[in-house]
Amino acid sequence: MSKKIGILTAGGDTPGLNAAIRAVGKAARGTYGMHVIGFRDGFRGLVENRFVPLEGDCLSGILTVGGTILGTGRDKPHKMNIAGRVQDMTDAIVENYQSNHLDAIVCLGGGGTQKNALRLMEKGLNVITLPKTIDNDVARTDTTFGFDTALGIATDALDRLHSTAHSHHRIIVAEVMGHRAGWLTLGAGIAGGADVILIPEIPYAVDKVSAAILNRVRHGKNFSIVAVAEGALSVSEAKAIAEVEREREEAQKKEQRRKAKERLRALETARSGHTLRLAERLEEETGLESRITILGHLQRGGIPSAGDRLLATRLGTACADLIAQGTFGVMVAARGESYEAVPLDRVAGQRKLVPPDHPWVRSAREVGTAFGD
Ligand code: F6P
Repeated sequence: MSKKIGILTAGGDTPGLNAAIRAVGKAARGTYGMHVIGFRDGFRGLVENRFVPLEGDCLSGILTVGGTILGTGRDKPHKMNIAGRVQDMTDAIVENYQSNHLDAIVCLGGGGTQKNALRLMEKGLNVITLPKTIDNDVARTDTTFGFDTALGIATDALDRLHSTAHSHHRIIVAEVMGHRAGWLTLGAGIAGGADVILIPEIPYAVDKVSAAILNRVRHGKNFSIVAVAEGALSVSEAKAIAEVEREREEAQKKEQRRKAKERLRALETARSGHTLRLAERLEEETGLESRITILGHLQRGGIPSAGDRLLATRLGTACADLIAQGTFGVMVAARGESYEAVPLDRVAGQRKLVPPDHPWVRSAREVGTAFGD
């Protein structure tokens, strides 16, 4: 009897998701004769049993389309808001998996999705995942689809900001997505020739950023581009967050953990608007007029790059091969020209951050880029 699989996309949307849905679906149907259905809006669709058959022509014409034809969401199966009440819905998922006679569920997502997929695996479901996110921070994969497209968009933005910063002799601070990981800011900062790159993994001091900008002025360059990650931290912010995180980890009692979590949230909230405040401080300290540009969701929208289409197709077809072989409980990681099936428990709960001595960081420093450290 032919196998039946479900596909869902979860977390933030990412260019290349449709290319991946197409690849899994076409290979599963065409090469292995499987039936394929797609669940709507991430894990919520699986809980509410909302799905569409991915048969006929519906996988055609989507390779180049941005977003996800299935819709997505940030719901967690074990903590889902149902009519205003947070509930564990994993049993409902198991029921729907069984009532649909599924042989596997394919989850396309980032770090959060890997954790949710592991939970479903622990409930006995055949789960397999693909790594997607513009942040490139999923552990144990060379890269994730979505990153290359976002990198192109952010780099293009920095290129465009250069000419206006240069014409007006201004500092332009460009905020790039990435709350915890600085890959996108670092990559775009290098490719777009940013003069200063600020990422969460390398805490910065504003006076060092100003000093780097003033040093450029002394060399006749009276404009600067600062690429700052959403989650970039000053030295004091990084210290405060690290302390509370340590307290949370060491907390013996639930109440202590809750309080630490609340304090972390307050520290995060206090950081909102940090890009504007940084630009204001740089203006004060350097005497150069400053402007900010927040690239935001532009970085996630539109057509996927050729690189992301290729990666999503490679990983998607590998996923169908693994399902046909009966390999489950793994993420299909990109490894060189090929792929590797990495056990989900080695991926979930991990995050691939930029090592401060990463070769990209070293190259950036060697071409004179400042990190504010
Ligand atoms: O995870 C991808 C990402 O784009 C991050 O870079 C960003 O911090 C976050 O999602 C934004 O999430 P949302 O679109 O839910 O506001």
